[in-house]
Amino acid sequence: MDVVAVSLAQNNRCYEVIVADDWQGLGPFIRGCVDSPHAFVVADTNTLPLAGAVQSALLDAGHRVDSAVLPPGESQKTLSSAAILYDQLSDVGAGRDTLVVAVGGGVIGDLAGFVAATYMRGLPLLMVPTTLLAMVDSSVGGKVAVNHWRAKNLIGAFHQPIGVWANLIALVTLPDREFRCGLAEVVKYGVVLDAELFDYLESRAESILDREPSVLAHIVGRSCRLKADIVTRDERETAGARAILNYGHTFGHAFEQAAAYEGWRHGEAVAVGMACAARLAVQRGLLSRDVAERQQHLLERFGLPVVPEAWPLDGIVAAMRHDKKSLGSRLRLVLPDRLGHAALVGDVSDEEVRQALQVE
Ligand SMILES: NC(=O)c1ccc[n+]([C@@H]2O[C@H](COP(=O)([O-])OP(=O)(O)OC[C@H]3O[C@@H](n4cnc5c(N)ncnc54)[C@H](O)[C@@H]3O)[C@@H](O)[C@H]2O)c1
Ligand SMILES: [Zn+2]
Repeated sequence: MDVVAVSLAQNNRCYEVIVADDWQGLGPFIRGCVDSPHAFVVADTNTLPLAGAVQSALLDAGHRVDSAVLPPGESQKTLSSAAILYDQLSDVGAGRDTLVVAVGGGVIGDLAGFVAATYMRGLPLLMVPTTLLAMVDSSVGGKVAVNHWRAKNLIGAFHQPIGVWANLIALVTLPDREFRCGLAEVVKYGVVLDAELFDYLESRAESILDREPSVLAHIVGRSCRLKADIVTRDERETAGARAILNYGHTFGHAFEQAAAYEGWRHGEAVAVGMACAARLAVQRGLLSRDVAERQQHLLERFGLPVVPEAWPLDGIVAAMRHDKKSLGSRLRLVLPDRLGHAALVGDVSDEEVRQALQVE
C-alpha cells in the first residue's frame, strides 16, 4: 500500500490518495476521513461489480448506503444526468453529511464530483477511481465538471475529495484501449516532470502492458505523487504550475473536437498532441530531436497514435485558439525543453502550429 498526501493551502487541509490492492482497508480509511452516517455510491454499468465491493466496505464501516447506476460514457457527463442524481439524493433523504462515493473512471468522478460540489452547497466526496486515467489524473486535484453542448467541462467547480482509494485490482477488467489511454497521461508526467519515470516506462514497457501489479503500483504511485505536488503548489491553476499538466492537451482538445468526440479517446488525442507539441519544440530549437523521438517510440510501444488524421489545418488551428488555455492573439503552449521539464511558451504562431501538424 502506498500513501500519497495532497496538502492544500486553503483551510490547511490535507487528504490522502491510497494506492491499494484490496478493499479490506477501505472501511477503516473512510472512518478516518469523515464522520458520515450515510453514503451515496455512484457507478456506471461497467463499474457496478466494483461498486458492490465498495458498498460492502461502507456497510461494514457502519454507513447506511444508497446508490445510483448510470450508463457508461462521456455522454452522461451532463447537467441532465446531474439533475437525475440530485433527484435521487433528495429521494433518499441525503443531508449535508452524506458521503458521495464515485466508483468509476473520469466520467463518473467528474459527474458525481460535480453533484457533490453543488448539492446542498457541497457534500463530502470520496473518489474510488477504476480506470488508469482516473487513478493517475482525474481523481486527484478537485476539478469536477459536466459538459455543455458548446464545450467540454464548461460547467464545473473545484471540490477536493476527502480521500482517494485507488485499488489496482480494478485495472484487471479495464479494456485494453482504456488502459493504453491512461498510459498517455503517465507518459505526459514523465516528459514534463520526471525523467526518471520516463526511463522507467521505457525500460519496463512490456511489464506495464502485461499489467504486472508491482510496476502498476510504481507508475500509479509516482504519477499521483507528481499530480499531488502540482496541486499543492497551484490548487486552482492560477500560479502556472498546474498548467504544465496541459502538455499535449491544447492540440489534443482540438483533435477531440475535430473528431466530434467520436472515435478518439482523450488519451489518444493527447498522445498525438504530445507528438505535435514535441515536434514544435524541436522546430523552435527548444528540445533535442532525440528526446522527441524517444517520446514517440514510447507512445507507439504503448499502442498509442502519434500522427494526426487528415483534418483541415485551419479548423485545428482555430479550435486551438478557442481552447480556454490560450490567451490573446498568439497561442500559449506547454513545450518540453528537456526530458522531465517543460515551459509555458506564450508566443507560438499559427505557422509553427501548422508545421508541427504536418508530418512528412
Ligand atoms: N477532473 C479532472 O481533473 C480530469 C482529468 C482528466 C480527465 N478528466 C475527465 O475524465 C473523463 C475520461 O475518463 P476515463 O478515461 O476514465 O473514461 P470513462 O470514465 O468513460 O471510462 C472509460 C470506460 O471504461 C469503463 N470502465 C471504467 N472502469 C472500468 C473497470 N475497472 N473495468 C471495466 N470497465 C471500466 C467505463 O464504464 C467506460 O466505459 C473525461 O470526461 C475527462 O474530461 C477529468
Ligand atoms: Zn488529459
